[in-house]
Amino acid sequence: MANIMMTDSCNLHCPYCFANEFVNKDRNEITEEAFKKAIDFIVGDGSHSSVGLIGGEPTTHSKFEYFMRKLLLDKRVKGVMVYTNGILMDKFWNVLCHPKTHMLINCNSPEDIGIHQFERLKQNLKVLIEDKLCMDRVTLGINMYDRNFEYEYLLELLKKYHFHHVRVSITVPNFEENRNIDVHSYFESMKPRMFSFFHELLKNDIIPNFDCNKIPSCLVSEDELMQFSTYLSSEFIRQNINKSNISSNEVHCTPVIDIRQDLTAVRCFGLSDCTKQRIDDFSGILELEKFYIRIVDAYAYNTSYCNKCLDCHLRKVMKCSGGCLAYKIDQIKLLNTRADELLNIYR
Ligand SMILES: C[S@@+](CC[C@H](N)C(=O)[O-])C[C@H]1O[C@@H](n2cnc3c(N)ncnc32)[C@H](O)[C@@H]1O
Repeated sequence: MANIMMTDSCNLHCPYCFANEFVNKDRNEITEEAFKKAIDFIVGDGSHSSVGLIGGEPTTHSKFEYFMRKLLLDKRVKGVMVYTNGILMDKFWNVLCHPKTHMLINCNSPEDIGIHQFERLKQNLKVLIEDKLCMDRVTLGINMYDRNFEYEYLLELLKKYHFHHVRVSITVPNFEENRNIDVHSYFESMKPRMFSFFHELLKNDIIPNFDCNKIPSCLVSEDELMQFSTYLSSEFIRQNINKSNISSNEVHCTPVIDIRQDLTAVRCFGLSDCTKQRIDDFSGILELEKFYIRIVDAYAYNTSYCNKCLDCHLRKVMKCSGGCLAYKIDQIKLLNTRADELLNIYR
């Protein structure tokens, strides 16, 4: 998957957002020429047929509708994923309700965004689902960023519209000051609230799926797992739980390339300060993906967060990278440099 960063502007200021590095400093909208180049780069080599739009808030781009129309008319593009907080959707029903458009609606709590914005989100969801009948192209998501994070508001929405899936992420703390945190303690601190959320979801036949920073299985005890097994009495859960990564003990982090307005790319937001590349230096998205796999991903399983990871079988057989790679990017870079040095010696 590859995303285009439409603008740095956002109508919200989410406390956890790892795009805060750029967001709202300046509008910095992508130009039509750069947008076209980014699309050609993503779908030009034939390896990808869908494009993600991200930000900031993509719907705040002053030409959002015009750019969407271009994208939807492009025969090479089979799907467009709009990452949005959903608050401005009512301005763009024509393009958002197009059969090629999918929406990942990141639902923030009323405490974080204020009652007024939350009411707009709710009203937009109502129209999108009840009037526009777009439910099958919509996923709701939550970023679990605080050990006491709110989830009741989202549960209510999921239940109201009979969603059976929800996207969840344990946020990666905004780095500079947090890169040296004890990652396992962070996961542990998030666990009680996260599990109480998962219990509520599963009780209601809703299956969570981790997008970013999945909790490693070594941090979940047998007892905790057993408590979830009761939901297997539901036929829906039994038949669908295996489609969710929640039921697997593997943790992978694959490149989700974000292309910025100046046509530099990063492997993902979390690694934005150290994986910047000019897309002009690559023939297409596949070559860039391979580049990131060579310089970052190839070392993901050879680095560890702590001693516990050193002896871990899942890490050794490359089934668990341990969560977000941003925490161990310094180790990854070091290994990469050493590997290059060795290669130079034997060349
Ligand atoms: C930066 S937002 C921009 C798009 C849109 N404004 C939104 O709220 O979805 C894109 C995605 O990044 C994710 N995200 C933001 N901060 C994050 C963090 N600290 N850790 C993990 N995911 C994060 C959110 O889940 C969101 O779906």
